[in-house]
Amino acid sequence: MYSEKFQESIRAVEAAREANIAYEPARMTAKEKEDLLAAYHPDYRQDQFDVLQIGPNKGEKVPKELAEILQAGSRIKSAEIDLSAPDYDVDVLVIGGGGAGASAAIEAHEAGANTMIVTKLRIGDANTMMAEGGIQAADKPNDSPAIHFLDAFGGGHFAAKRELLYKLVNDAPEAILWLNELGVEFDKMADGTMVTTHGGGTSRKRMHAAKDYSGAEIMRTLRDEVLNRKIPVVDFTAAIELILDDKGNAAGAVLQNMETGDLLIAKAKTVIIATGGAGRMHYQGFPTSNHYGATADGLVMGYRAGAKLLYADTLQYHPTGAAFPEQIFGALVTEKVRSLGAKLVNRDGKVFMHPLETRDVAAASIIRECSDRGEGVDTGSGQGVWLDTPMIEKIGGEGTIEKRIPAMMRMFAKYGIDIRKEPILVYPTLHYQNGGLDISDDCMTTNVENLFVAGEAVGGIHGRNRLMGNSLLDIIVFGRSAGKNAAAKSREVSVGELTLAHVDRFEAERKSAGVESDSVSPKLLPDYRHTR
Ligand code: FUM
Repeated sequence: MYSEKFQESIRAVEAAREANIAYEPARMTAKEKEDLLAAYHPDYRQDQFDVLQIGPNKGEKVPKELAEILQAGSRIKSAEIDLSAPDYDVDVLVIGGGGAGASAAIEAHEAGANTMIVTKLRIGDANTMMAEGGIQAADKPNDSPAIHFLDAFGGGHFAAKRELLYKLVNDAPEAILWLNELGVEFDKMADGTMVTTHGGGTSRKRMHAAKDYSGAEIMRTLRDEVLNRKIPVVDFTAAIELILDDKGNAAGAVLQNMETGDLLIAKAKTVIIATGGAGRMHYQGFPTSNHYGATADGLVMGYRAGAKLLYADTLQYHPTGAAFPEQIFGALVTEKVRSLGAKLVNRDGKVFMHPLETRDVAAASIIRECSDRGEGVDTGSGQGVWLDTPMIEKIGGEGTIEKRIPAMMRMFAKYGIDIRKEPILVYPTLHYQNGGLDISDDCMTTNVENLFVAGEAVGGIHGRNRLMGNSLLDIIVFGRSAGKNAAAKSREVSVGELTLAHVDRFEAERKSAGVESDSVSPKLLPDYRHTR
């Protein structure tokens, strides 16, 4: 199936394989990393950002596509909405049916709160389901939350909100125990000890996994728990605007049935935004590893209601998205492939970086190889570098790929590529939103009372770059915490008169700032009608 040019390049990779396995590439120095990022990482391309003209983060720069939806008009006209007879009235309203939303709902329910999930697709249709490589937790004798903190803090360019990262790493071991108790089938050794591996930027092996479908296994378990508890789930129903009360506190959401377009009103004592990421915004034209619904809805709703964003200018481009074949362009090739020993090599079979540099550095390094250095492989529709997967079998023994990364093996086998025998082509893909809504360590937004956030919609947990496996971890840690705290808060809340005055104020701000755009948001779903 490969062209002659491809085959020639593969022969070079094969010829260099034994020497490449033995070769230990040096780690980059801090200065080398800084220079590399500034020159090649998409976050540093100033022409791809706009300065916000309105809202709580006015004056700050965000990706152009995000600026467009943050400053767009509302999907509703407030005067046409009757808030007097809500369709739902609950203690805790969870917006989003992924891992963070499900964890939040389970804990809120456990605490005795009347809890409801609304989700624009179905419960489990989320980035959690697509996560592959694993979940970090420092629970081995040679490790500690303090070491985990240092790895993640450094990997995030020392920018993480310390109290959030502190909570993430300290609550991690208990998160694993909780998931294990709920029934997640983690990879274990014969004596029951969990198998752990390295990820990029980790100084200890603390990645717990369920082969390479860790997210799907975790989501399966959480979804079962939500359903077993009979927590109401209103699916195919998007939240399109938050409702506040006359004290300015979060008090519910306007919902829209995705099939009929009908509007519904949900009143709540506390609201949890768990709407996930933004890969389907395709910032800078990148493909994405994200779920179909990842369109930054929670950021838009929170922003319009007055909640601040933190680090909304920083995205994660996963170094290894599939670059070939075109049918899986941008799909995630888990970092675990590199944890198991596969190295990245250029078209001449040369190793050009340490395989476990942090993600921003690895992505920038691949982009450099494929641009200025001219050492990428032409895929026909773009560029890529080789990820030499057969190394895994040579290092770990025959059968390692099938045992440890069966999903990867299947994904490529569908297109006639046997990753045990041939290398695969990869290029960075839009994977994660490092920024999001600004919260305190109780998960409540810093400036809208009774509005909680969990999961990828939170900004600041990881700083300006996230390590592998800390996202599956944060959806559990912050999801559970948001659920518990929102339930506790709901016991002391008495909701005032419901209002959408903030939507009108935002519209007035748009007009006075001269924001001229006909688009409305949240976007809800990507629109591929006009792309080929
Ligand atoms: O590479 C991966 O398996 C992705 C993991 C993550 O984003 O944490």
